[in-house]
Amino acid sequence: MSERPQTIIKNTCREFDHDKTRLMDIVEAAQAKLGWISGEAVSLIAHELGLPRVEVEAVISFYAFLNRGPKGQSVVQLCDCVSCNLVGGKTAAGSFIAELGIGFGETTPDGKVTLERASCLGMCDQGPAALINGIVFTRLSTDAIKEIVRTLREGADPRKLVRNLGDGQNSSRLISAMVDNNIRKRGPVIFGESKPGAGLRNALTMNSAEVIRDVKTARLRGRGGAGFPAGMKWDFARQAEGDRRFVLCNADEGEPGTFKDRVLLTECPDLVFEGMTIAGYAVGAEEGILYLRGEYEYLRAYLENVLDQRRAAGLLGKNAGGKSGFNFEVRIQLGAGAYICGEETALINSCEGRRGEPRDRPPFPAQQGYLGRPTIINNVETFCCVTRIMEKGAPWFSRIGSPASSGTKLFSVSGDCMRPGIYELPYGISMRELLAEVGGEDAIAVQVGGASGQCIAPEGFKRLICFDDLATGGSIVVLGPKRNLLEVASEFMAFFVDESCGWCVPCRVGNVLIKERVDKIRAGSGEPDDLVYLEELCRTVKTMSRCGLGQTSANPVLTTLANFRSVYEHAVRKSEDGRQRSFDLEAALADAVAVQGRQPVHFPD
Ligand SMILES: Cc1cc2nc3c(=O)[nH]c(=O)nc-3n(C[C@H](O)[C@H](O)[C@H](O)COP(=O)(O)O)c2cc1C
Ligand code: SF4
Repeated sequence: MSERPQTIIKNTCREFDHDKTRLMDIVEAAQAKLGWISGEAVSLIAHELGLPRVEVEAVISFYAFLNRGPKGQSVVQLCDCVSCNLVGGKTAAGSFIAELGIGFGETTPDGKVTLERASCLGMCDQGPAALINGIVFTRLSTDAIKEIVRTLREGADPRKLVRNLGDGQNSSRLISAMVDNNIRKRGPVIFGESKPGAGLRNALTMNSAEVIRDVKTARLRGRGGAGFPAGMKWDFARQAEGDRRFVLCNADEGEPGTFKDRVLLTECPDLVFEGMTIAGYAVGAEEGILYLRGEYEYLRAYLENVLDQRRAAGLLGKNAGGKSGFNFEVRIQLGAGAYICGEETALINSCEGRRGEPRDRPPFPAQQGYLGRPTIINNVETFCCVTRIMEKGAPWFSRIGSPASSGTKLFSVSGDCMRPGIYELPYGISMRELLAEVGGEDAIAVQVGGASGQCIAPEGFKRLICFDDLATGGSIVVLGPKRNLLEVASEFMAFFVDESCGWCVPCRVGNVLIKERVDKIRAGSGEPDDLVYLEELCRTVKTMSRCGLGQTSANPVLTTLANFRSVYEHAVRKSEDGRQRSFDLEAALADAVAVQGRQPVHFPD
């Protein structure tokens, strides 16, 4: 007999010691068993944790992967990111609609399948992609979709459709996914030969200040996008007041076009966990959290197993790395489908079992972060670099790359190129060299740094990829000669409209207005004045928004306006007969025509 909801929720809350800050885990675990969180379940959770019901509701309503209503037996989440759409995402969407006979957000009448859109699944180099009950499907052809739908209609487990497993660890027992790593270029830092434990043991021969000194000497800057010097951040946290300290690894990777952290977690988890352990030693933390985006849940069992192996090898836990008195543990916090949780303060809120809304700064996380204690947050790749710096030495690392940007960078390359995938290249290479490497020489534009990055034109391909010129978290989306840049800009804006947390008006409303104006111009109804309006609107959203999402969301439009002005100007040129393009006579008279029941005589043919 299946367990009653009351029993499931009581047991789940007990499993997490009735800890309110583990609300995300409790709701996720309850949903895994119940399928969705009913009103009764909300009340039970609130009662068990001693929380107002509204707080539980507020959390569930925030995250795309948490369900307050029932869904079909199978849930198809089709990726809607620009990279997937460049390689047939829209065709895949049409195929699912045709085969299932329902639209997005709907469930088939027999309750077998729900069809949804996902913002970006991180499979940008092997799209179109979908998650079906959490199982990844890549390179979805029309035939594959027909077979998937047939199987789901029969009520069969979608797992049986995963026949060809991906390369590397993707085909290991604990992952068993059809995902490919697509590692095209291996560099000396990330993909150089490395021994688990070597970096940590070297670090433990020094004191914490010396470890931080070495990270500074290596001139390591964060790989998540902003490029903040890692050693400086660690120093702030080490010196901040607090009875406990924390190390958080940001594996939220939601930026469309970015998938490098997925490959790092798959192929180099030891480098990631070792970097976190070294950071723990350096700042005086005993606890680490890897915030794993919900889309990568398929990696969780594998990562838990790596953690177990590290514990067994004495590299985690009490006296980690053989250092008496140094204790360090790592837990995995699963996200639930919210891009904003990649922003560090939103990530902290999410780890504390709250809505993933950003916090005001100061205080900075290094002063008051997770549970109000000094916390360092770094990107997955940053932690990998830390391990290698400790293993091979700061001078070795700082000699690679360009003067202001040491080391290598992992690039996630997708879009119109011959060889999409992962590239480890030294900082300081030019965009033109990168395009030659990936087979994207005929690009008309490159979106650098994901949706919130910049769209550069061929005149900019001579620029160097590094912090002092073209900075990027690593996402490179190549746009070939057939691409409509207004359509691409509109798709990026759709992403931000969906992913804005809604806390502040400029971002919540402004992004919608920007998208509407771009669409108006795309549709041929734009006027030259629209460009002035669009620019002003973008600047308002950029300067008035509360967090990094709103401060960068207008970038795809601002940078296409700056670098591809003629595309916009062509779209808004005056019509040849001198008529105002934005005024639609038929639409304006539609109501009158309906009342009169006849067409006006003045309509042009
Ligand atoms: C909307 C938004 C999303 C972000 N997403 C990520 C992310 O997925 N991964 C990441 O490492 N940093 C992300 N960041 C940057 C983080 O806030 C933070 O700067 C970073 O994790 C620090 O690590 P680093 O110094 O090692 O780069 C995001 C920032 C914003 C504003
Ligand atoms: S800028 Fe956007 S994402 Fe950031 S707090 Fe405001 S509404 Fe939320």
